[in-house]
Amino acid sequence: MSTPVQKHNELNSLAESLKVHCRVQNLSGRTCFFRNTNQDGAPATEPTDKAALLEDLRTELGECTRCGLSAGRKSIVFGEGNPYARLVFVGEAPGADEDVQGRPFVGKAGQLLTRIIEAIKMGRSEVYIANVIKCRPPSNRDPAEDEIATCIPFLHRQLEIIQPQIICTLGRIAAQALLQTDAGITKLRGRFHRFGSIPVMPTYHPSYLLRTPARKKETWIDVQMIQEALR
Ligand code: URA
Ligand code: URA
Repeated sequence: MSTPVQKHNELNSLAESLKVHCRVQNLSGRTCFFRNTNQDGAPATEPTDKAALLEDLRTELGECTRCGLSAGRKSIVFGEGNPYARLVFVGEAPGADEDVQGRPFVGKAGQLLTRIIEAIKMGRSEVYIANVIKCRPPSNRDPAEDEIATCIPFLHRQLEIIQPQIICTLGRIAAQALLQTDAGITKLRGRFHRFGSIPVMPTYHPSYLLRTPARKKETWIDVQMIQEALR
């Protein structure tokens, strides 16, 4: 049984998601039945403690040996940020710096990701950042299919807990894994897809952008669509 306060909070949270849904529809060139106006005053307080739920999930992951990557890793990179984030970034897997520090996107690519987040007037502490794979693959090779299959349920549960209004995937691997598609990143980026009911914007991986700066324009377009949807 939920209390009237919980009901109220659920309704507020639903209204917020609906507003973002409408903006996503409009940005995708579809008219939306619902209006984008904001009739409420006070922000919703959440009925659940998402930080505690994420901690429980991290405890369940434990000193994971579910796949072979555990043999070569220094740290498990679970993810970090705001448990109540409206926007979650999903990368591929930890690199060398992340493996040492146990935190996502802290190397060169991470510095670019920070700038991308700041470009849409947000901060790293406001969003949540995680990867499809929690352990570094040897010499940064692509994660194998069985490694993704073993690890991605933990990402799915992070997303279930956080219930962000938008997910931004970084690079081909994250987009394909989350959206369960074989389509290339150039085809996927630039428009909203869905993970369950959550809109997903795929964009290029910051490491790719460091090697191919001419593509940065496209990522700016992608993140501006996110900014517009979250407005
Ligand atoms: N690249 C990723 O995909 N994830 C990280 O955490 C760091 C680099
Ligand atoms: N290939 C990838 O894996 N990611 C990109 O972002 C671009 C090309």
